[in-house]
Amino acid sequence: MADNVKVIIDGKTLECPIIVGTEGERAFDIAKLRSQTGLITLDPGFSNTGACKSAITYLDGDKGILRYRGIPIEQLAEKSTFVETSYLLIHGKLPNQNELEDFSEAYNEHSMIHEDMINFFHAYPSTSHPMAILSAMVCAMSAYYPEFVKENPTQKEIDRIAIQLLSKVRTICAFSYKKSIGEPFVYPKYDLSYVPNFLNMMFSSPTHPYKLTDEVVRALQVLLILHADHEQNCSTSTVRLVGSAHANLYASISAGICALWGPLHGGANQAVIEMLEIIHKDGGNVQKYIAKAKDKDDTFRLMGFGHRVYKNFDPRAKIIKKCADDLLKTLGIQDPLLDLAKQMEETALKDEYFIERKLYPNVDFYSGIIYRAIGIPLNMFPVMFAIGRLPGWIAHWKEMIQDPTSKIGRPFQIYTGAPKTEYVAIAKRK
Ligand code: SDX
Repeated sequence: MADNVKVIIDGKTLECPIIVGTEGERAFDIAKLRSQTGLITLDPGFSNTGACKSAITYLDGDKGILRYRGIPIEQLAEKSTFVETSYLLIHGKLPNQNELEDFSEAYNEHSMIHEDMINFFHAYPSTSHPMAILSAMVCAMSAYYPEFVKENPTQKEIDRIAIQLLSKVRTICAFSYKKSIGEPFVYPKYDLSYVPNFLNMMFSSPTHPYKLTDEVVRALQVLLILHADHEQNCSTSTVRLVGSAHANLYASISAGICALWGPLHGGANQAVIEMLEIIHKDGGNVQKYIAKAKDKDDTFRLMGFGHRVYKNFDPRAKIIKKCADDLLKTLGIQDPLLDLAKQMEETALKDEYFIERKLYPNVDFYSGIIYRAIGIPLNMFPVMFAIGRLPGWIAHWKEMIQDPTSKIGRPFQIYTGAPKTEYVAIAKRK
C-alpha cells in the first residue's frame, strides 16, 4: 500500500506522507501543500478533511461502530454509568473503585452554583429557550471562578474546571426548567447520585416529592452515555476551534452549546418531535411526508434521519429505539408518536431515495420519545444532548490544549468577490 500521495502541479511534485490510524483509516498530510505549491484545498463542510489526530473516540460509519477509548458503546450502555463514562472519556481509562468514588464525591462537592447566579434566571423571560440560558451561564462561570481563567491551566486546574462544569451544568439545566414553569428551584441533594439528583431537581416540588424509578434512571443513564462523545462533530469541532485560540474552557464549552443548538445538529431531537406532532395532527399520513422529504422544492426534511458519517445505521439509534420501547412498556405509556416514528422509519428504509443516499435514523430520531415519557419538555431536549455531550467536549478540549503540536485554527478561503475597486464619493454614486 502506498506510503505517500504525490501532488504534481506546475511541474512540481510534493510528496504528502500517509498517516494510518489505529483501525487502519488513512489520511495524507498536506501540511506543506501551501508553502510548497501555493495551493490550498477546498472542502466546504469538511466532508473530506481531518482536523486533528485524536485518541478519544473511534467511529466507523460503514460498519456502525462507535467506541469510547476503545470500549464499544453497546457495552458501556449496558454496564456503565454516565459518571463512569465521563471519567473514561476525560481521563482515558475506566476508573478503579477509589478513583470512581473520588470522582463521584467531587460531583456532589461542586453541584451547587454560586447563589448570585440565580439572578440570571430572573433576568431571562420565562419563555427563554434553555439553550440560550445554558450557554450564557456557562460562559458566566468564568466570572465567578476567575482563578481558573488563565492561559495554559495545569492538569489539576483543568480537572477542577471539568468537574465544576459537569456538575453545575446539570443544576443550571434543572433550574432553567423550574424557572420556565414558575416553580421554586430544588437544590441538589448530597445523598443522590448524578442522574437521580438531576431528576429530583427537575421534578420534585415542595408539595410533590418526585418518585425515582430504576427504569427511568437507567433510561436516562443510557441516553447520556450514548450522547457523551462523537469525535469531530460540529459542536466538538467548535469547542476545539475556540479552545485553539487558548480561550478558557468555560468560553469554549459555551460556544459548543451554541453550535449544538442548531436543528441540523443537537437541536434535531426537538425538531423530530415537532415534525412527528405535525404529521400526527395531519392525520399521520406517512407517505405524504416521505414525499415532501424527497421533494427538492420542499424545505421539509425528515428530521432525525441522515448522518455525515453513518451510512448503514447509527448504532446509538438502535439502542435508543429499544430503550424507548422498553421504557414505554414499563411505564404503560402508549405514545402515538413512537408508532408514527416506527412507520416513518419502515417506509423510508424501503424507499429508493433514502436507500440511494444511505439515510438512516440517527441518534436524534427516537431519543425525544424517551424524554417525553420521562416528562422532559420539548425545548429541554437539546439541553439533554448538551448535558450528555459535555464530557466529550471537555475531553477534546483537554486533548487539544495538551497537544504540543496544536495550533490556532485558521482555515483559508477562495476569494470570489469584486476585483480591486476605487472608492467613489457619495455624490458620484448611482
Ligand atoms: C447529530 O456529526 C455528528 O456526529 C452529529 C451527531 C453527534 O452525535 O454529534 O451524530 C448528532 O447532529 C445527528 C444529525 C441530526 N440532524 C438531523 O437529523 C437533521 C436532518 N439530517 C440532515 O439535515 C442531514 O442528514 C445531516 C445534517 C445530518 C447530514 O448532512 P450532510 O452529511 O451534509 O448530507 P447532505 O445534507 O449533503 O445530504 C445528502 C443528500 C442530499 O440530497 P441530494 O442533494 O444528494 O439529492 O441526502 C439528502 C440531502 O437532501 N438528505 C435528506 C436528509 N438528510 C440528507 N433528505 C431528506 N431528509 C433528510 N433528513
